[in-house]
Amino acid sequence: MSSPLYEPYTIRGLTLRNRVAMSPMCQYSSEDGFANDWHLVHLGARATGGVGLVIVEATGVTPEGRISPGDMGLWDDRHIEPLARIVRFVESQGAAPGIQLAHAGRKASCDPPWLGGKAITDPAKGGWPVVGPSPIPFDASSPTPHELTVAEIDALVDAWEAAARRALAAGFRMIEIHSAHGYLLHEFLSPLSNRREDEYGGSLENRTRLVRRVAERLRGVIPDSMPLFARISATDWAEGGWDVDQSVELARALKGLGVDLIDCSSGALVPGVKIPLGPGYQVPFARRIREEAGIATGAVGLITDREHAERIVADGDADLVLLGRELLREPYWVLKSMREAGVEVAWPVQYGYVFKQRR
Ligand code: FNR
Repeated sequence: MSSPLYEPYTIRGLTLRNRVAMSPMCQYSSEDGFANDWHLVHLGARATGGVGLVIVEATGVTPEGRISPGDMGLWDDRHIEPLARIVRFVESQGAAPGIQLAHAGRKASCDPPWLGGKAITDPAKGGWPVVGPSPIPFDASSPTPHELTVAEIDALVDAWEAAARRALAAGFRMIEIHSAHGYLLHEFLSPLSNRREDEYGGSLENRTRLVRRVAERLRGVIPDSMPLFARISATDWAEGGWDVDQSVELARALKGLGVDLIDCSSGALVPGVKIPLGPGYQVPFARRIREEAGIATGAVGLITDREHAERIVADGDADLVLLGRELLREPYWVLKSMREAGVEVAWPVQYGYVFKQRR
């Protein structure tokens, strides 16, 4: 039986050819924030592999907002053209190009994971001072973040807007706000990292103020036809932290501000928590937020099996399925799955005729 997974999905003015998205994945392979040939091939391969939506990795809205010195950035107009090249290729393959805009907050200034991922505190080694809602470090080996002033927060909202304008100039069709995984916007959401006593801390309304401001600002500058996503960690998996009830409230508020889809991840705000990892372990968050906040959702996390992905969409757990590591293993996951499911496969033209030839 065919599945809606392989059918087009329209969100605002954007129609995706199917409901499989490439989850944003940092490559730590940029210099000074620039996209390069690696990113073209990495992202382009998944576009030729059939995904409906290709989401570019967490892209720093400021240099200090990068997780590592190798992160992608959009803080300078010169970043636009190398990304525009990727956008053109992704679109030429029938996929929609999206980008995740990010600020790493207190988790910025680290080595890439393959060098250990530890904080670089020495400016001589390429590190920089990190910022956050409150002077609470991520863990014992992390630097204490500078507590952002209200003026600095205002400047960051401006940086998000400027980066979004550059994303538009590069031709992206979707922007995702990164408010998950213990990075800056998530740090404001969670009482475990936000102990502020001003209008950005304390109540749920205050802790959600920054992400709401960013969403409102971005919706104000992008076209009505363009979808805006937000990725959240639906829970910190920690006592006294951010949780699913608050996520539902936030999703309702973001919907009111013109956010179209909540991409439901979890965790990474505090170390040492127990996470019940297993296939689709975050799917229940996507389902609950979809039902209770009445907003489209994306399901992500340990989804590798074709029939599982088909069921997630068919059962109404989520509107989109995002794949991360499985697409690293298998860029052609979508085309292979369509073939196995008996659905007509949308091969790239260079390949498709080969399989139609009689021998
Ligand atoms: C990630 N992830 C991630 N998430 C995000 O929101 N922005 C990012 O830039 C990154 N970067 C990143 C790099 C790499 C190498 C991996 C493996 C993961 C998380 C990713 O998008 C996804 O949510 C998780 O990997 C879970 O999905 P999978 O991999 O189980 O399908």
